[in-house]
Order: sequence, then C-alpha cells, then structure tokens
Amino acid sequence: MRDFRVQSGADLLQRGDKFFHWQNTRRENGLWPFSRSTQAGPGTVCDAADDRGNPIHGVNFASQDYLSLSAHPVMRAVAIETIRSHGVHSAGSSALVGNTNLSVELERRIADYLQMEEAILYPTGWAAGYGIIRGLVRSADHIVMDQLSHVCLQEGANAATRNIHQFRHLDVEHCRRKLAGIRASDTENGILVVTEGLFSMDSDTPNIAALQEVCHEYGATLVVDVAHDFGALGDGRGHIGLQAMLGRVDLVMGSFSKTFGSNGGFVACHSRAIKEYLRFYSPSATFSNALSPMQAAVVLKALDIVDSAEGVELRAKLLHNVNLLRSTLTANGLEYYGDPSAIVAVKMGTEGLARLVSRRLPVLGLLSNLVEYPAVAKGAARFRMQVMAGHTEDNIVRAVAIMKQAVTEARAELEQVGETRAAAA
Ligand SMILES: Cc1ncc(COP(=O)(O)O)c(C=O)c1O
Repeated sequence: MRDFRVQSGADLLQRGDKFFHWQNTRRENGLWPFSRSTQAGPGTVCDAADDRGNPIHGVNFASQDYLSLSAHPVMRAVAIETIRSHGVHSAGSSALVGNTNLSVELERRIADYLQMEEAILYPTGWAAGYGIIRGLVRSADHIVMDQLSHVCLQEGANAATRNIHQFRHLDVEHCRRKLAGIRASDTENGILVVTEGLFSMDSDTPNIAALQEVCHEYGATLVVDVAHDFGALGDGRGHIGLQAMLGRVDLVMGSFSKTFGSNGGFVACHSRAIKEYLRFYSPSATFSNALSPMQAAVVLKALDIVDSAEGVELRAKLLHNVNLLRSTLTANGLEYYGDPSAIVAVKMGTEGLARLVSRRLPVLGLLSNLVEYPAVAKGAARFRMQVMAGHTEDNIVRAVAIMKQAVTEARAELEQVGETRAAAA
C-alpha cells in the first residue's frame, strides 16, 4: 500500500488510478480481505459481505466489541430510550452547544473512574489522539514517541511540530536517552512523551510507571492511549490500574469503540485549565460535532456494566476465551504475538502466505483481519483475531481449525507455485 501513497501529477483526480488497479488485481483474485460489511451488526457469528457483495458467513474474530456490549439488551434499551428523550443528534461542537446533560455526566464519570480530575470527550478515539497532541504541542516543542504508536498519535505529532523523536518500542532507556538529548540543549520548550497502554498490533505494554518517572525527571509530560485495555483488562482500568498508576499518569487518552459499544473518545487530565485549553485548541474537539446523546447514554451504561459485578464476569469470560484461543493456537502449531489481551495476532510472516490464507478464511467460515505492511513491518504479516466475551468455546475451536486448514493449504499452494516457477526457469 505504501507504494501508492505518494503519487505525482497535476490532476489530483488521477491519484487513485494506480492504487485502484493494484487493489482490483487483488480483489479479482480473492486477495482483498478489507472493507467488508456485517449485515446485522458485529455478532460472534455473523453474516457479512465483501466489497464486491459476495456473502460471507462465519465465526467473527474481526470486530472490536471486547465485552460483547454492542448487542447487550440493556445497551439497546438505553439507546432507544435516549433517542425518544433527546432525539438523534447533538447538533454542535462541545465548544458551542453540542454537549448534552448526558455527555457532561459522561465526562465526570470517566474522570472519576480513572481517578483523574477532569475529562473531555471527542467525537472519536482518533479525534482524541490527534487532538490531544495537536491541542497541546506547538512547533518549538518536542514529541518523544514509541515507534509503534497509533496513526492518530503520529498524525497529531506530524501536524504539531517537526521535532519528533521516536524511541524503540517499549524501550524506556531509549526514551530516557532521547529526553536527555533534548534537555541538554533545550530547557525552554515542552516535551510530550507518547505511548499506549496496550499496543494494538502486538498486544504488549510498556512499563508505564518507569515512563512517567523519566518524564518527571526531564520535565516532560506523558500521555498514554488506553484504547484497547480500558474497560477490558484488569478491574476495567486497564494497564494503568494493573500497574498501580491510577491517577498518577499526566494524561490518559482513550476510545469507546473497542469495549464501550459506541464511537467516541476522551482525554482525562489533572486540571480544568488543561481540559478547557484542549476544548478550544484541539481542532478535532473545537470544530467537530460532539457525541450524540444516544452515544453518550450508551457509553454511560457501558461504564455502569464495566464497573459492576457483571463487568467482572465479562472480563473473566473474555480472559478465559483469550487464554483458550492462545492455547488452542499453540496446540495446532500456530504462533501469536504478545501478552494475553483481547488482541491475539496470529503470526503469518510473508505477505504472500498471509494473502493466500486470507482468500481461504471466508470460504471456510472465519472472519479475521489481515494486517500487513505498512501497518506492521514487512515480512511480519498477521491475522489480528479480536476476542469477545460472548465467543463460545466452540467458536474458538472452530476458528483455530479453520486458520490451521487455511495455513496448511496456503503453504501447499505457495510450494506448488515455487516448483512451477523453478521448472519454468
Ligand atoms: C491505539 C488506538 N488509538 C486510537 C484509536 C482510534 O480510535 P477510534 O477507532 O475509536 O477512533 C485506535 C483504533 O483504531 C487505536 O487502536
């Protein structure tokens, strides 16, 4: 995909042509596993369609609904009730009159849940990641970021300053060296250190306490993106809770779209001044419509569940499913990346093998997302299986059996292609 990003020529409307030709070649050969649509929502088993309209039916490990809240009857009922009481739209940015009593309450609840002083909502998690950086950092400031940080953080950084320094993934000492280098010549400007609570392609986690400590040492500010662990891991407070860092991280940014059954994002901080500054200087908050009342009500209800005995049970079910998926993969000779979380990324290696596997999965009855370069390194293609609390043991065993069959068949096909080529040469 990277090959087509930079295209030249005076006619902007021709920019898509080469990409589309390449994409279509893949599509026509059944090797374009993206842009699918579910037909009745993201269930654990679901009907979907590819982007040519071909139907797919199978077990679904491709949706982000970690506690299976999106179809929870109470969440649906709250959404319907709220549409009756508040209508369907917020009709403005939160800087004007777009907030509702529900979004104001949600800001308070998020702040309290994370033991922070304040929180501000954004229309999406992406807008929160982009907005916190673009809102706080100016051109003379510095950003020191984990090299695998999410694209919303990278884009926010690129828009905010040219002083971007990447440190090796999870490497606190490398981060420290970057900070020391900056502070050796610049004590005047700000430094934002950026990381994630759970990395979305690798399912691994930094030492948040150590990062916060080096930030204090060098007068830098830490932001942790908790999109994938918030609500789903530990007691619901993700790795910040697991690492006893509740209320002790400078800035926490997150998304509702993985666990809370709604679009939306937030930043939690320690002062009203920062919250207000972000509201008026994050362009993705100031100049974008606020969460709808229905979305705010759904997230409030999800937070009730996350913070209840039912939430404890759902997280235990999720973790049971994650561990079962990991052990069944291992028993079938398949490897995965990272630590136990709702993200189980199954290693494929070369893009060629991964694409051939991707052609077989829907036919055999499994939805799972292919992740390939440039989203991850070249030669490190993987299927990101995303687990839900609602998956059954049968769903998991079936998914692994399909993955194994697809890999076995794809390897045989690759070998055959290699032999045919060798014979032709
Ligand atoms: C780490 C991380 N941050 C932010 C986002 C953006 O969140 P959303 O999809 O809710 O806009 C994502 C989702 O892809 C993510 O994985």
